[in-house]
Amino acid sequence: MAQAATVNILLVDDEPKNLFALRELLGDLKQNLLSAASGEEALRLALKHELAVVLLDVRMPAMDGFETARMLRSRERTRLTPIVFLTAAAEEMESVFRGYEVGAVDYLIKPIVPQVLRSKVSVFVELARKSVALAESERKLRELAAHLISVREEERAHIAREVHDELGQVLTGLKMDVGWLAKQLREDQQPLLEKTESMGRLIDATVQTVRKISAGLRPEVLDEMGLVAAIGWQAQEFQKRTGIRCRLNLPPELAELESELSTTMFRVFQEILTNVARHSRATRVDVDLKNSQRRLVLEVADNGIGIDGVNDKDRKSLGLLGMQERALRVGGEVSIGNAPGRGTRVVVALPVTQSPA
Ligand SMILES: Nc1ncnc2c1ncn2[C@@H]1O[C@H](COP(=O)(O)OP(=O)(O)OP(=O)(O)O)[C@@H](O)[C@H]1O
Ligand SMILES: [Mg+2]
Repeated sequence: MAQAATVNILLVDDEPKNLFALRELLGDLKQNLLSAASGEEALRLALKHELAVVLLDVRMPAMDGFETARMLRSRERTRLTPIVFLTAAAEEMESVFRGYEVGAVDYLIKPIVPQVLRSKVSVFVELARKSVALAESERKLRELAAHLISVREEERAHIAREVHDELGQVLTGLKMDVGWLAKQLREDQQPLLEKTESMGRLIDATVQTVRKISAGLRPEVLDEMGLVAAIGWQAQEFQKRTGIRCRLNLPPELAELESELSTTMFRVFQEILTNVARHSRATRVDVDLKNSQRRLVLEVADNGIGIDGVNDKDRKSLGLLGMQERALRVGGEVSIGNAPGRGTRVVVALPVTQSPA
């Protein structure tokens, strides 16, 4: 495993000699020790650093430990940071209760026993290290997912072009050759003439298949006519194939959309329709695309059985996850829920980057 990260431990006490003692006792842990002589200073430091744990003296002039803890809890960054109260034996019970009330996770009684201090703090250090490692691996997975999406998209576009251009040319050539052959035949060579005709039909059908395959890989309409046309086309195909009626509410074609953005929207749309066909038992889908200055929003609502347990983390299916990842990659989001009335509604919002005017 990679070398464990060094984490920050914040020590808060108004008595310099106490701070000094804590630093001495925790030196062996080889972590980064930050000291604050007041609650205010602690809050300032907490804004700047990611903290593994805060050791917080209860009794301090001005802002005491309880108030400091409350403030830490109220901030997003330190909402979950472990706080360990340092409390004098004389006031033990009351401080401990109040401490837990304001969000402490543990307490230490002064005078502090070195071994107890070190072992408690080590637990939090280990925890913080694990979450740093986890965040790092999550970031890497995200990057990998984004990379895979873009590689796959490039490859599809490439294959679509190859299939369309190469195969298309060969088939056109064949068709012409067969036509030429037919012209060389005499009228009394009826069986051969029929053969050339059926060959011609076979070639035509193959041309259609090639078109279908390359459009499936990457519809030309997306590159040539834009996202709105491509969504319209895809909806029509969907309706033809499944018999589920598509009602479209689309804006006029959007000029100057980035290709990555239209590809993302288009792929998510395809995935949504696939799900509608596979799971929804719907008879109708409403597709609504809106664009504002800043956002492109697609809403697809079906009138089917609705979606349950979307947040089920154990799901093995990748469709919804893939949509989320694609959207995230361009800074957007996908939300999925039940449509009002019945059915499922998926809303995809992608930010549109403005080209400087
Ligand atoms: N329009 C919908 N109506 C009803 N249920 C849906 C709808 N869309 C998705 N679901 C439910 O959500 C689940 C997760 O969808 P997701 O696309 O992630 O997986 P999947 O379609 O089962 O598999 P795949 O990984 O091949 O896409 C589905 O299995 C289905 O139960
Ligand atoms: Mg799916």
